[in-house]
Amino acid sequence: MKKLMAANWKMNKTLAEAGATATDLAARVEQRLAADREVLIIPPFTALAAVAKAVSGAAGFFVGAQDFYPKDKGAFTGEIAPAQILDCGAVYALTGHSERRHVLGETDAFVGQKTAYGLGSGLKVILCVGERIEERRAGKVEEVLTRQLLAGLADVPRDQDPENLVVAYEPVWAIGTGEVAGPAEIVEAHALVRSRLGRKFGANGGKIRILYGGSVKPENCAEIMSLDNVDGVLVGGASLSAESFSAIVTA
Ligand code: 13P
Repeated sequence: MKKLMAANWKMNKTLAEAGATATDLAARVEQRLAADREVLIIPPFTALAAVAKAVSGAAGFFVGAQDFYPKDKGAFTGEIAPAQILDCGAVYALTGHSERRHVLGETDAFVGQKTAYGLGSGLKVILCVGERIEERRAGKVEEVLTRQLLAGLADVPRDQDPENLVVAYEPVWAIGTGEVAGPAEIVEAHALVRSRLGRKFGANGGKIRILYGGSVKPENCAEIMSLDNVDGVLVGGASLSAESFSAIVTA
């Protein structure tokens, strides 16, 4: 199982900036990428094709989308279909990112619909889960993660290829705040996710990668990567510069 080092650029970068950062990143990392690591760049839709082209020759590099709509085409103004993402040269997509859940109001059920649809359409899907600070303070971490995982995976078949499904644990209170979750908090949450995956997918649950996201930086990445059941990272702010993200990828 290769570790996945993912850069979520969110709503940042022009076409020119995205292409330049991707090219710079590939040049910095390519010769130094560990054999057991993969790099994933998740730019805005507008830059998917440009970034895919920029890293097409770089071994171990992949491109993904931040979202998609669970239909193959039709009257869904403003939305993007999995086939259109694949057409751009991207192979991954996020579902259930906390900003989609909490800023755009996506429900657990809709996230589940998208996760199953994306996998069925040939995308590799990264299902994001994570509790808010008030939920953690109220002792509800297990309850929230369980609810999000049950709904998020409800329509995913039990014989799902574990290589195409990834789960990202991103505590909402650690996203963009500089406040990284502590090692014990990460280990506990990832163990919980792993156990849920085992219940649903049996032995294959152990082959599904679990990423940590939330204020990952070059300085804290190596420690986070060393923790049990951490199979990669999903990075926002510190992934926007090639210098900083290359340091994370090679940490
Ligand atoms: P930050 O790394 O900026 O905290 O963002 C994490 C995130 O939301 C990645 O998807």
